[in-house]
Amino acid sequence: MPAITLTTLQSLKQKGEKITMLTCYDATFAHACNQAGVEVLLVGDSLGMVLQGHDSTLPVTTAEMAYHVACVKRGNQDALILADMAFMANATLEQSLNNSALLMKAGAHMVKVEGAVWLAESIRAMTERGIPVCAHMGLTPQTVNVLGGYKVQGRNENQARQMRADAIALEQAGAAMLLLECVPSELAAEITHAVKIPVIGIGAGSDTDGQVLVLHDMLGLSLTGRVPKFVKNFMTGQPDIQSALSAYVTEVKAVSFPATEHGFSA
Ligand code: KIV
Repeated sequence: MPAITLTTLQSLKQKGEKITMLTCYDATFAHACNQAGVEVLLVGDSLGMVLQGHDSTLPVTTAEMAYHVACVKRGNQDALILADMAFMANATLEQSLNNSALLMKAGAHMVKVEGAVWLAESIRAMTERGIPVCAHMGLTPQTVNVLGGYKVQGRNENQARQMRADAIALEQAGAAMLLLECVPSELAAEITHAVKIPVIGIGAGSDTDGQVLVLHDMLGLSLTGRVPKFVKNFMTGQPDIQSALSAYVTEVKAVSFPATEHGFSA
């Protein structure tokens, strides 16, 4: 067991202390994130873009996710390892159980699935069998082709009402954490207060229970030159990567990141 468990994250929410999460894909960065005090390492399928150079997360396979989870596990001591289910790896209930098991056997402590209320059945089944689940809502990059691009979600009242209802339904189905991506700050705050489980935000304002960024983005590295509005370059003014990781933890804990300019309005 790592030092940080789901119980730790739950009690951070209750105390009102912000949770820090970063994406991480290898052992050296897992160690560096531990040194900085990052509580959750997300082995995100963003690795398809930042490591593999694809233009979306869709080509990433479960075997590749499991490989990077195992790399992170070898460098990690303290943090909770959250692993993304690859695109279509949870298309059926049987696939959800088999593929989440592969990630847990590789070293994950929890898996993340993208979607909405339709996830309820598989979240219940995985949780009952010992696999904690984080539900990723809002902008879900695996459905970029359905959404018509990487766009803020929940801006109109119907979408917002549906997202609030889905969040509560997924908590009731057993989700242990929610992740909200590119959601208006006010809606993210409402959802955070409406559920008891920790809610982590990326482009969702400062009122969520914690924050996550893609490691390469916050270190100022970009393959395409396109930097999302919610990203801050933590290398600015820092002498090295270790200091930038520590600055991220300090700013999230102090609620000085994200600032208003990193969020979205309805
Ligand atoms: O894959 C990933 O890095 C993610 C973050 C954008 C939250 O899901």
